[in-house]
Amino acid sequence: MSDLLRLLSDGRFHSGESLGRSLGVTRSAVWKQLQQMEERYAIALHKVQGRGYKLSSPLSLLDEARLRQACAVPLDVLDSVDSTNAEALRCLSVSGEVAPRLFVAEQQSAGRGRRGRHWHSPYGENLYLSLLFPVEHSLMLDGLSLCVGLAVQCALVEMGFVDARLKWPNDVLVGDAKIAGVLLELVGDPADRCHVVIGVGVNVNMLQDENRIDQDWTSMRRIQGGLLDRTEVLLVLIDQLLRQLDVIAETGFAGIRQRWEQAHAWQGRRVRLSAGNQAVDGVVLGVDGRGALRLQCDEGERCFSGGELSLRLSDDS
Ligand code: BTN
Repeated sequence: MSDLLRLLSDGRFHSGESLGRSLGVTRSAVWKQLQQMEERYAIALHKVQGRGYKLSSPLSLLDEARLRQACAVPLDVLDSVDSTNAEALRCLSVSGEVAPRLFVAEQQSAGRGRRGRHWHSPYGENLYLSLLFPVEHSLMLDGLSLCVGLAVQCALVEMGFVDARLKWPNDVLVGDAKIAGVLLELVGDPADRCHVVIGVGVNVNMLQDENRIDQDWTSMRRIQGGLLDRTEVLLVLIDQLLRQLDVIAETGFAGIRQRWEQAHAWQGRRVRLSAGNQAVDGVVLGVDGRGALRLQCDEGERCFSGGELSLRLSDDS
């Protein structure tokens, strides 16, 4: 199936006959595979009599051989999975894996977002990755999710997306639109031996969301105009991620705090922080040494941390 998709990934017309020839199967077998492909991957296919089949838009599929050669950590490249975070957690529970390991997928059927939300993960369009990482010192956990956000922001800047900014705790924005998100899941005793699954989703080539995303979003392709090489983007991202993890392992969040604040989109802005029905208004002062958000509220400075919090700009900001 993925051989067929690879042949079609250039976005050009291919006749049933030429596809069959390349795959060594009959035209009717090609037809069957195309139907299964459309259903399984929710991929739109154009069929034009006399010309053949083409994808509605070209795809940049992951180049597994190149990833294996260039990636600094062992990795699993998956075609379709419920969630790369879930896959990393399953791997940990089965093998008790201690070394870092990366899981990437072309598609997620149940991508997990923060605060129980769904993460839209269409086939071959964006990056969906999870790094299973053993935590050696509990100190590293302070501000870890901010550190990952910073790594994604740095990778985007390195690739020319210089307007990429952070939104506490770990969203990556361009303008007001979200381009990437981070979801950390911890297993084990944070004070002793534990593992963290570092999940990152980056909108790379997505142009449409079929109304599946309920917030303002953008993608690298929307900004740049052309199709990006997802393998290349992934390699830059992993390199930055491993670099920032080295920094936090060595210095704790203190070594990252200033750079994080410089990249924060809403530094000095008036915001509303919400948890369920409760909300607090204040001006963003920055983050503290553990990555908690510092707000100047009417009653004085207050610090907030926790995965269930969400931040918005105040109407009068
Ligand atoms: C957010 O809500 O901002 C966090 C989104 C995190 C999505 C990524 S995609 C790869 C990894 N696997 C998941 O199921 N979620 C994360």
